[in-house]
Amino acid sequence: MRQHIVVGLDVGTTKICGVAAQVQGSEINLLGMGVSPSAGLRKGMVINIDDAVASIRTALDETEACSGVRVRSVSVGISGSHVRGFESCGAVGIRGKEVSHTDVDRAIESARAVYIPLDREVLHVIPTEFILDGQEGITDPVGMSGVRLEAKVHIITGAVSSVQNLLKCCEKAGLDVVDLVFEPLASARAALTRDEKEAGVVLVDIGGGTTDIALFREGSLRHAAVLGVGGNHITNDIAVGLRIQMAEAERLKKTAGATEIGPDQEPEVQMTQACGQVRSLRCADLASIIRPRCEEMLELVREELKRGFGYEHAVYGVVLTGGSSLLRGFDRMAELVLQLPVRIGRPEIIGTPEHAVAPALRNPQYATGVGLVACSSVVDRPRIIHPVSANSLLGRMRHWAKDLFKNAETINPDYKKEGGMVCSKSKK
Ligand SMILES: Nc1ncnc2c1ncn2[C@@H]1O[C@H](COP(=O)(O)OP(=O)(O)OP(=O)(O)O)[C@@H](O)[C@H]1O
Ligand SMILES: [Mg+2]
Repeated sequence: MRQHIVVGLDVGTTKICGVAAQVQGSEINLLGMGVSPSAGLRKGMVINIDDAVASIRTALDETEACSGVRVRSVSVGISGSHVRGFESCGAVGIRGKEVSHTDVDRAIESARAVYIPLDREVLHVIPTEFILDGQEGITDPVGMSGVRLEAKVHIITGAVSSVQNLLKCCEKAGLDVVDLVFEPLASARAALTRDEKEAGVVLVDIGGGTTDIALFREGSLRHAAVLGVGGNHITNDIAVGLRIQMAEAERLKKTAGATEIGPDQEPEVQMTQACGQVRSLRCADLASIIRPRCEEMLELVREELKRGFGYEHAVYGVVLTGGSSLLRGFDRMAELVLQLPVRIGRPEIIGTPEHAVAPALRNPQYATGVGLVACSSVVDRPRIIHPVSANSLLGRMRHWAKDLFKNAETINPDYKKEGGMVCSKSKK
C-alpha cells in the first residue's frame, strides 16, 4: 500500500502547531511536531496576514527540523465564530434494483442543494443518516433494496473572506492546502472514542480565542457552534483586575490559576507589577477574578447545547479539550454548570505512542493538530464529504490541490533519510 506524508496545521489564536506523520492506509506513524506562538489572529480569524504567515513559517520550520521532512502540503484546521452548521435533507429515486454508491452520492448532492449566500462557503457536507423507503437510521445503504433514498446531512459553512484569508496565509508561507477541516471535527477524531461518538457526547474545545462546541451521536456530527470566547479573556481579566502585563497574567493563570483553591495549592504567589515591583498575591483573590469568566463561558456553552438539543443526547457527557481545559478546577466547574459528566480529552497518539514527541502531544492543546493528521487516514474519509462546487474558486482550488497531492504523495523512504523533499511540490 502507498505511503504518504501528512502534515496537520492547527492555526490557533494563541499557538500554531504542525504535526507530521506518515500514513499508510489506516496506519499512522508520528514523525514530529513544531509549535510557535501565534500572531496576526483574533478569535480564530486572520487579522494580519504578514504576522500570521511568519508564525506559520516558524511552526513549520520547527516541524521540519523535528520530523526530517520538507513540508509542502498541509491539512489546515479552520474555526472562528463565522463557522456555522445546519441540517438539510434530500431524496432520490433508486435507478437499479439496489442502492449503489452513485445513488448515495446523488442523495447527498440533493441534500446539499440549498441556498447558500454568496459570502459563505460550504466546508463540509456530513451525512448523518439515510432513510430507505421510510426505514430510518441507516448508516450505509449501499447494496440494500429500495425505491426511494433520503439523505440527512449536516452542512458546515464559513465566511468566504475568512476562509480565503487563511488559505492566503498558507499560500504565502509556501504551502499547498490539501484539506480544510473544521477544527472540532479534527479534535473529535483525536480525543473522542468511537463509543462516545456513537452513544452521544459533546466536545468542547476551549482555546485562546474561541470555544468550539460539537455534538456527536450515532457516529456523526449533529450540531456545531463556535463561540468567540476563550482563555485569552481570562488572561485579560487577570491583567486588568491586577493591573499587570498580559504576559505576567498568563504566567499567573498557568502556574497559580484555579476556579477554586484546592488543599494542595500554595496560599500565595509572587507577581510582578507593570512598574517592576514584586508583590504577594493571595491565590484565593486570583481565583475570584478567574471564576466569573469561567462561569460565563460555561453558561454560554450550556445555552448553545440547549439550543442545539444536545442535553438529552449527550449520554456520555462532555469531553473538554483545548488549552483552557487545563485550568485547575475547570472540569469540576463544568460538571456543576452543565450538569453532565465531564472528562479532559487528551489526544490519542495512534501508531507510534513511543515516539519522542508523543508525551508532549498528549496535551488537550494539541487535539486539533493530532486530529488533523488522524483525519487523513483512509478509514475516516467516507464519512466526511468535502464539497467541490463547479463555480466555486475555493472549491476548485482545493480540488486542484488535492489532485496535485494525490499524484505526488507517494514517498520514497530513502529521501527521508537524506532529508529530501517528500511532500508534493507546489506548482504555484
Ligand atoms: N495550564 C494551563 N492553565 C490554564 N490555561 C492554560 C494552560 N495551558 C494553556 N492554557 C490556555 O489555553 C489557551 C490556549 O489554548 P489552545 O492552544 O487550545 O488555543 P488555540 O488553539 O491557540 O486557540 P483557538 O482554538 O481559540 O483559536 C490560552 O488561553 C492559554 O492561556
Ligand atoms: Mg484551537
